[in-house]
Amino acid sequence: MRRLEEVFQASEPRVELRVFAGAEDLALAAAAEFLTRARTAVAQRGRFIVALPGGSTPNRFYARLAGWRRAGTGRIPWARIHVFWGDERLVPPGHPDSNFRNVNDALLVQVPIPQANVHRIRTEGRSPAGAAALYEQEIRTFFRLPAGRLPRFDLVVLGLGADGHTASLFPGSEALAEDARLVVAPLIAKLGTHRITVTLPVLNNARTIMFLVGGAQKSEALARALHGGGGSDALPARMVRPRDGTLLWLVDRAAARKLSDASLGQATPEGRRLNPGRT
Ligand code: 6PG
Repeated sequence: MRRLEEVFQASEPRVELRVFAGAEDLALAAAAEFLTRARTAVAQRGRFIVALPGGSTPNRFYARLAGWRRAGTGRIPWARIHVFWGDERLVPPGHPDSNFRNVNDALLVQVPIPQANVHRIRTEGRSPAGAAALYEQEIRTFFRLPAGRLPRFDLVVLGLGADGHTASLFPGSEALAEDARLVVAPLIAKLGTHRITVTLPVLNNARTIMFLVGGAQKSEALARALHGGGGSDALPARMVRPRDGTLLWLVDRAAARKLSDASLGQATPEGRRLNPGRT
C-alpha cells in the first residue's frame, strides 16, 4: 500500500497553551475557537470540516454550541459544516457508548446541520476492519483524495486519556506506526475490544488540533505530552504535532497542576504561544 505523503513542507507547529479556572470557562473558549475557525473556513473555502472526539470532557463544549443556537447567538454556519469523528467504539449508533450518539444527542439534533453533512463511523453489521475500511472510503470520497494523499481537516478536536491516549490511539498500539491507511481498527487489549480510529498522519495533516483536557487525573499525561522526558515520545498525545498547523491545548487548572513553571508562568486564558519550535 502506498505510503501517505504530505503535500507541503513540514514545519514546526504553532503550539499554544491556555489554562482556565474550570470546565465551563474551558468549554466557552473551545466553542469560541470553533466559531472563529468555522467562519474563517467558510469565508475562505466555502465549508468547515471538523472531526469530533468521544469521551465526557467535550460535552460542555457541545452544550455551549447548542446553547448558542437556542439563544440565537454565535451565528454558526451549520449548513456549511461537515462533521466527522476521530474515533468510535464498536457499538451501534444508538448505544450509550457510541461517540456518534453522544455528539448527536448533545449537539447535532439541536442545530440546523444537514443530515448529509454528518459523517459518522458506521460500525453496525461490520467487522472492525470492515468499519475502518468503509470510513476510510467515506473520507477519501468526501475529500476527493488521490491515492496516497491525506485529508486536511480544518479542525480536529481531541481528548486526552490518563494513560496518554488520544482518539483511539493507545500507548504501545501498532496503530501508532500506521503510515498508509487513514483509518484503522486496533484491538485495545486493556479494553478487550476493537476501536475505530483515524491515524496519526490524518491528525497531523489538520490545520488546527484542539485538545480539551480537564481534571487532576489528566495532569500526569498532560505534563508528559507537553514536556516529554521519561520515554514520553512514545506517548500517543505527544505524537500529535500538526505538520503545517496549530496545536491548541485548552486545559483547566487541575489538569495543569504538573506543568512546569516555565509553561504555567506563560500560560493564560488568553493563551500563550509555547513555542516557535519544540516545547
Ligand atoms: C473516546 C475518545 C477518547 C477520549 C479520552 C478522554 O472515544 O473515548 O475519543 O480518546 O477523548 O478517553 O476521555 P474523557 O474526556 O472522558 O476523559
